[in-house]
Amino acid sequence: MTALDDPITSAPSRFPRDLTRRIVERIREDSLDTAAHAMTDPASIFTDPVQFERERHLFFRHGAHVVGWAGELPGPNTYVTRDIAGTPVLITRDGDGVLHAFLNACTHRGAQVATGCGEARRFTCPYHAWSFDAQGALAGQPEAWGFEDIDRATLGLQQLPIASVAGLLVVGLSDDVDPVAAYADIAPHLQGYSYDTHEVVCRHQWTLQANWKIAFDVNLEAYHIASLHRETLNSLVLNNAVHDAFGRHARWAFPTRAAVAMVDLPEAEWPEPAPITVVHTFFPSCVLLETPVSSQMFRIYPGRHAGECTVELTEASIRPVQSDDERAARMRGADFAALIVGTEDFPVAEQCQRGAEAGLDRFVFGRVEPMLQHWHNTWRTALDS
Ligand code: FES
Ligand SMILES: [Fe+2]
Repeated sequence: MTALDDPITSAPSRFPRDLTRRIVERIREDSLDTAAHAMTDPASIFTDPVQFERERHLFFRHGAHVVGWAGELPGPNTYVTRDIAGTPVLITRDGDGVLHAFLNACTHRGAQVATGCGEARRFTCPYHAWSFDAQGALAGQPEAWGFEDIDRATLGLQQLPIASVAGLLVVGLSDDVDPVAAYADIAPHLQGYSYDTHEVVCRHQWTLQANWKIAFDVNLEAYHIASLHRETLNSLVLNNAVHDAFGRHARWAFPTRAAVAMVDLPEAEWPEPAPITVVHTFFPSCVLLETPVSSQMFRIYPGRHAGECTVELTEASIRPVQSDDERAARMRGADFAALIVGTEDFPVAEQCQRGAEAGLDRFVFGRVEPMLQHWHNTWRTALDS
């Protein structure tokens, strides 16, 4: 969630008008999109080590992952690094502007050849100084004569599949993954968000004693806002939420309280940007929360066992930052989001994990929690496929 008193409101709306219309209608009726029935899942899905390993293998190791915005590599010879569910990855844009992804593991003996992000034509391993170009080829090798009996062409960085999907960076962690196909269902609904101009402002990270799905679930409904966020978000947003499924992926959106005024206004007088929040959720575990002025990405990955996960929150400006005031506003937005999730959502996620580990037999997902139902049905079906 973001600081909703943000002074920067000049960005054009990035939100589809039909989505805004549906939300305004829900405010008018004081209702929300619902599921047909309540449903349950066994609590063991959060604790079972066998299921945990299957998820790690199928969803993460052999999955495609949204890991950032193409705007993070704004020109030729730029790069970013990522930890994707424990796998170190280097993403480059070469001198011709083409994106590449590699295992960030030196082909000599595995050390990481790059850290952080920035501009670079070459990446030099800190261990013995082998170097690689932006296309991954081995470019330098001290005392190369000592390695002549290994074909140099086989010593380039190991390539990984990568694509820009509507300006989002999508990386596959194994050769059998097609990043474009994996996101084809939702890609048409991601147009107009200008992800290729987004600039990252800051990051926050957590390690939680909770299953990765529980940490994901806290992002999927506004039902808890009136109680868990009673002193914070409850004065800012309403639970007149709408939702849509796009294959495995999904989207939900809800209004801020400022949207109430739109009910009595003709559409031509609706404010731009619309005072709503749109939350894209990507298989298996990425949440992209769009406010009128920023994008907040939560990447949630399994930890070392079923009861642990890592969460990274990245705050991006929807356009390159133009002033110190604008940067400060984005930082405030990220700090506010980090405060809410870090002190309210994540502690309760850890409580839910303790409940599951204590022997609770099942978790319940009500009609007012349709996104939870979508995701638990999707994960279950994907495990069975
Ligand atoms: S591990 Fe990279 S140069 Fe030796
Ligand atoms: Fe929350």
